Amino acid sequence: MHSVHTVAQLHEVLADFRRAGDRVALVPTMGNLHAGHLALVERARELADRVVVSVFVNPAQFAPGEDFEEYPRTLEADRERLLEAGVDVLFAPRTGEMYPDGVGAVTVRVDRVTEGLCSGTRPDFFTGVATVVTKLLVAARPDWAVFGKKDYQQWVTVRRLVRNLLLDVEIEAVPVVREEDGLALSSRNRYLSSAHREMASGLYRALRTAVRTGENENLDARGVEREAWTMLEAAGLDPEYTEVRRRGDLETVTDLQGPRVLLAAAHLGGTRLIDNLEFGSP
Ligand code: PAJ
Repeated sequence: MHSVHTVAQLHEVLADFRRAGDRVALVPTMGNLHAGHLALVERARELADRVVVSVFVNPAQFAPGEDFEEYPRTLEADRERLLEAGVDVLFAPRTGEMYPDGVGAVTVRVDRVTEGLCSGTRPDFFTGVATVVTKLLVAARPDWAVFGKKDYQQWVTVRRLVRNLLLDVEIEAVPVVREEDGLALSSRNRYLSSAHREMASGLYRALRTAVRTGENENLDARGVEREAWTMLEAAGLDPEYTEVRRRGDLETVTDLQGPRVLLAAAHLGGTRLIDNLEFGSP
């Protein structure tokens, strides 16, 4: 496995791959890798001849007061896991490499699909994500880039970004990887106390119950949202939003006729959890 830290080194390695006719998949991450990330790597390996994983804690997507400083940085352990997973290139740049003229010198902003949901409390988050993902795609020029549906609004934002910047890359989505009790794997789960860790499974349970109730009792979208909100509170979580949107493009909806996704964010202690559940006809 090549470990590279600069874009110039990345280009050198990729040029060799391309000369050999190999096709490349990129998996962007912020490191502290878990089985959710590794599912993305596995999918990338199925798709492409060569897999590049980026590990970069992107300052542009953290607001002042968020956990940028505390965010777990475990590059050595990540390197081991990626080696075992058969990854070809680990790209772990420093901030100056990704932002030569500083964060904010050039930004990429995606409209509409970034409105509401996670932007309610993190208004600049998706601009930070869109900016760094554009840079990574330009630096690696992969044939595929693989994202998790765990971060559903992020996935939709990246698809919109690629389509409208006319980038020649296919965006591949991987379903949410969960713990046995349903909690979606996340690097931030490590912030949970053991009591809160047990309560955290209430998030996915609330989504499932709300969708089931909605379908059984013929509720509309607002009814399902209210149901999920009530379930979250009953489980001891502090809901931030519960929202039904159209699956795939996050258009707002009022009914449950067609492809839908229920998305939620909730707080437990100081930790913010997000999750979602796709439902309805295809
Ligand atoms: P990070 O949180 O490290 O996640 C990297 C990728 O792994 C994302 O596409 C995310 O959706 C996926 N992922 C994380 N947990 C998952 C799970 N339990 N199941 C399935 N996929 C999961 O998301 C980011 O980093 C950053 O915003 C990034 C895209 C790298 C831009 O900085």
